[in-house]
This record gives sequence, C-alpha cells and structure tokens, in this order.
Amino acid sequence: MKLKITVLEGDGIGPEVTREALRVLRTIGGIYGHRFEFSEHLIGGAAIRKHDSPLPTSTLDACLASDAVFLGAVGSPEFDALPAHKRPEAGLLLLRQALGDYANLRPAISYDAIAAASPLRPEIVAGADILIVRELLGGLYFGDPRGVINDNGHTRAANTMSYSVAEIERVARVAFAAAAKRRGKVTSVDKANVLETSQLWRQTVTRIAKDYPEVELDHLYVDACAMHLITTPQRFDVILTENLFGDILSDEAAVITGSLGMLGSASIGGEVGLFEPVHGSAPDIAGKGIANPFGAIASAALLLRYVGDLAQEAETVEEAIRSVLKAGYRTRDIMAAPGFLVSTSEVGQLVTEAIAEIADRRHAYHAV
Ligand code: IPM
Ligand code: MN
Repeated sequence: MKLKITVLEGDGIGPEVTREALRVLRTIGGIYGHRFEFSEHLIGGAAIRKHDSPLPTSTLDACLASDAVFLGAVGSPEFDALPAHKRPEAGLLLLRQALGDYANLRPAISYDAIAAASPLRPEIVAGADILIVRELLGGLYFGDPRGVINDNGHTRAANTMSYSVAEIERVARVAFAAAAKRRGKVTSVDKANVLETSQLWRQTVTRIAKDYPEVELDHLYVDACAMHLITTPQRFDVILTENLFGDILSDEAAVITGSLGMLGSASIGGEVGLFEPVHGSAPDIAGKGIANPFGAIASAALLLRYVGDLAQEAETVEEAIRSVLKAGYRTRDIMAAPGFLVSTSEVGQLVTEAIAEIADRRHAYHAV
C-alpha cells in the first residue's frame, strides 16, 4: 500500500504531537510493508504569519492531491483580535469544507489503566466506549446569513442554524453503518422540543433508521445527553448529532477518558479524509515536551483504518496505546492515574516499541 499524506502540523502543540503520530505511521509502514509519503504544509497561525492566510492555496492544493491529511492543531492567542474569517480556526473550517468531509468520528474510550485519570468514579466510566458522529459541514458553523449587523447604532451579531434533508441523511448513514459494526445502537441528539432544524433532524434520522433494522435508534435532547454522558456513559454506543452539539459533547466525552489529549478523530465522507486529535493547540504548554500525543497517535490509527482499509495495522496501533498505558506510562495530564511520567517523544518511542512487539507476536513482519 502506498499513501500520500499531507501533514499540517499547525500551531502550539500541533508540531510536537504530529511528530509522534508520524513516527508511529513510519513504524507501521516499515513492519507491514507500506509506503507513506509525507509532505508538510502550513495552516492556521503558522500560515497567517508566512502567507497572510490561514489556508494558503498551496496548502489546499496539496491536501486535495493527497490520499489523506493529517493535522496537529490550529489556534493562537496572537490572532484573537482578528475577525472570525481571518483567524487560524478559519483555515481548518475552510479545509473541512473543501475536502467535503461531512462526518466527524470521535471515539471516546475509557481505558482501564487510566480510569483514575477521569474525575468520574471508576464504576461510572468502566467499559464506556462511545463513538460520536458529528455532522461537520452544516449548522451554525456554516449557515447564512451570518455576521455583525449595525442597526442604527445598535450592534447585533447573527448566525444561522440550517440543515437540509440531504445533509442529515448522509451523516445519519455514516452513524448507522458504524453502529452496525459495533454494538448496534444509535442515539440521535437534538433539541427538537425547541428548534425546527432539530425536528427535521429527528424525522430524517428516524426514516433512515428503517434501512438499518439491525440497529436500535433512540433520541435524546442535547441538554439531557450532556448529563447522561457523565452519569451513565455506558448507555451509549454511537451518538449522532449536528455540528455545534457534537463539538461541545465531544469535549465533554473526553472526561470519560480522563483527558482531551487522549482523543483522536477522523473526518470522512469527502474526497480526502482528514485526521486530527480532538484537542486544540494548547499554546500554554507548547514546546515543553509535555503535551499528550496519544490523541494524535489514535488519529493515525483511524487514518490507517479509514484511508488504507488497514484494519490490522490500526488495531496494532490501538493495542500498542493500551499496552503503553497498562505499563504505567503517562503524560502529565493523565498522571491522576498513578504511573511513570514521560515526555511527548517518550510516549511516541514507547508506542513504536509496543507496536514492534505486538507485530512480532503476530508474525506480521512483511517479508523483505
Ligand atoms: C474541534 C475544534 C474546532 C471546531 C475549532 C478549532 C474550529 O474545536 O475540532 O472540535 O470547533 O470544530
Ligand atoms: Mn472542539
């Protein structure tokens, strides 16, 4: 297998966690006999500094011409005063839109070894394994009209939540197909007691569910879901929801795992898939070697699974993550589960060593 991967390290801790994810991909490539070609480009604040644009044309062209895009993180307080469309985050939103990736998959898993890193009681998080399927190209993030309106000296700002039936259908199908391969349950999350967009969402999801008789569907209002996520996370298998609700609920779901740094994500459905950790650029800890790269590494596993269809390789990476955690190695953010404090690059090194061991046990080495 040969894959052309565009790498966008981005801002803050983006470069340091990306380095470890790429190290993992190189190791997998070496063992299983795949060629991953990486080419680096600028996005976010780093791109604004050099090209005065959060998504330069050269970056977008490279992304569109590749098999997958791997992204670190975007965002920097340096640009806080800029209008929304000029900020680093705008680069990421434009990229998602240009790639056409309408389904954002965010697994939130409770790892036994670091259950104590969660502020939730261990018996509450034990065994929780949730896949959030977040609609990524609609809703308030992209709806028109939007903007700041000056009304006779009174300033207002408006954003629009809008969804078409087709937009709901396509992401619903991703959620049902994923649930069919998991524990067979979709919880669709909306605010149908108040919002018309949510009423259309609920009707449409209910209709699409008929095509997946093996999958059970239930509905929750987003406020109730926010509560159930941290009181009874084991009740969930796949959560299907719109863009902003999914943004908020996925950060909340990180509490189950113990740290936002643990979560990876895959954005799929378009021409080219985009893989990025759920965490942000964390400028306060950038460059110190203390950032948690597990989320970036988990995103690399998702890239293997969704782009290369390399299920065994993806499982090897996921098993390696578990084994490093089980052996007691932790970055600072998950030290509430007692263990050995290690740096960002030490995690990368430990995961690659674990991968080699697992592959060896499975006799997975590619004949050279
Ligand atoms: C995320 C982030 C982004 C989002 C930001 C950086 C634009 O919070 O991926 O969850 O809101 O989608
Ligand atoms: Mn977010």
